[in-house]
Amino acid sequence: MQKQNRTQEDYIMSLEADRWLFHADLLVDKAHVVMLKERGIIKRDEAAAILHCLTKIEERSDDFIEHELPSYEDVHTALESVLIKEIGEDKGGRMHTGRSRNDEVATCIRIALRNDLLELMRKINELREVLIEKAAENVDTVMPGYTHLQHAQPTTLAHHYLAHADALARDFLRLIRAYECVNVCPLGAAAFASTGFPLDRERTAKLLGFDSVLENSMDAVSTRDFIIEAVSCFSNLMTNLSRLAEEIILWSTSEFDFIRLPEEYATGSSIMPQKRNPDYAELARARTGTVHGCLMSVLSICKALPYSYNRDLQEATPHLLQATKTTIASVAVMKSMVEKLELKKEEMELKAKIGFTAATELADTIVRETGISFRTAHKIVSSLALVLADENLEAIKEQESEKAFVAEILQRIDETATHIMGKKLSEMKLTEKKVKEALNIVSNIQKRNVKGGPAEKEVLRMLRARRMDLEKDEKSQQVREERVKRSMGELEREVKKKKRVIKVIKK
Ligand code: ARG
Repeated sequence: MQKQNRTQEDYIMSLEADRWLFHADLLVDKAHVVMLKERGIIKRDEAAAILHCLTKIEERSDDFIEHELPSYEDVHTALESVLIKEIGEDKGGRMHTGRSRNDEVATCIRIALRNDLLELMRKINELREVLIEKAAENVDTVMPGYTHLQHAQPTTLAHHYLAHADALARDFLRLIRAYECVNVCPLGAAAFASTGFPLDRERTAKLLGFDSVLENSMDAVSTRDFIIEAVSCFSNLMTNLSRLAEEIILWSTSEFDFIRLPEEYATGSSIMPQKRNPDYAELARARTGTVHGCLMSVLSICKALPYSYNRDLQEATPHLLQATKTTIASVAVMKSMVEKLELKKEEMELKAKIGFTAATELADTIVRETGISFRTAHKIVSSLALVLADENLEAIKEQESEKAFVAEILQRIDETATHIMGKKLSEMKLTEKKVKEALNIVSNIQKRNVKGGPAEKEVLRMLRARRMDLEKDEKSQQVREERVKRSMGELEREVKKKKRVIKVIKK
């Protein structure tokens, strides 16, 4: 690097992102050198010297990243320059044969991102497992279900948790699809027009654990669509996570009072001694905005760039890094928070009844018992709801025995029905027994046994199915992780083999 002032140097670097790429770059260097040797493009002793030096650098990784890396334009230049400094240009200067930083950096980003995707997939599955197991513990924990944040119909916590788990299952699927687009190898594309050296692109792709080669060499160095795709998946995931975070925040208020935050996820106030603030959930909610911002950044950076490589592309990497790390950390925090939430089940059940949540079932019962249309039943129950709301349903209930209460309700239904359709529903086979059943919250839930509904039978079936899906997804994550590990093992074995020569020569 030519002498420049620090501001100028800083402007061109993306040090944080390059730290993230450091280990990937070492792998890319090793695989490229192994292949150059195999192809006879560089000599045995040259390959051995380079690989030996790369291993030495790897051994002092932390030190290298902290002290040597910052003095160069980027991680690729740093590694090559130090290599040349240590073993001389005649040998070290051969590492970059048939290669450009353009294909190199694209390969590094894909490797680093691939590792983080695998970690994120694992973490998502852990969160899914917590939600599924908590659901299993709460098949009969009754709570109000909401629309427009108003009490709508009763449901169970199991049904609610499974809804979140299902959203995350789709996020997992999106990550797998993104992974397929990420795990393709651009190495060998060089600056963009490939090279006249007889490179074996398949070989480096395989040594680096890629599923295939990103063929067109111009496409290979130009595209960052895999970054957009990954960050878009993260954005979707974070949006889903933010809804869970938001509910945890709401549920922990005195208004809801459904949960008590675990000690380690509640923070105090510097002035109000009684406070237990949901800062972690709030930050997960806020960081969703951060990740969405990253998506906007990468989209805007890539927009309208002429082919092939432009330095603009470097600017996308830090946003990818920020989005990736933020998402991984948020999933981990949410997992352990949900795991440790203290549930106030009685409070939930009590509130499930407030707001005439049985109204839909009452209308449905009227339809089934009397044969009138749903719309007419809806009108009747709707006016009844107005009357009851005025008189305060709960107050009436407290004053009367259950039998008297139900009789009173039926009488009100009859009054309303007479007003609306000129007939009493009790004369059309609507009985006190059926009204009582319709008003019962638990039987409300048990009646909703349509596929996907909150009835116990359905929830138990879904639990079984979701556990099986999760197991399948865990396997598909593991298969990918193991495939990568195997390639890394193969690469290390090749590096060792090729390094051995130097010892023979030294003797
Ligand atoms: N650090 C650069 C990046 O992230 C490496 C590529 C530089 N290539 C170039 N032609 N200047 O994209």
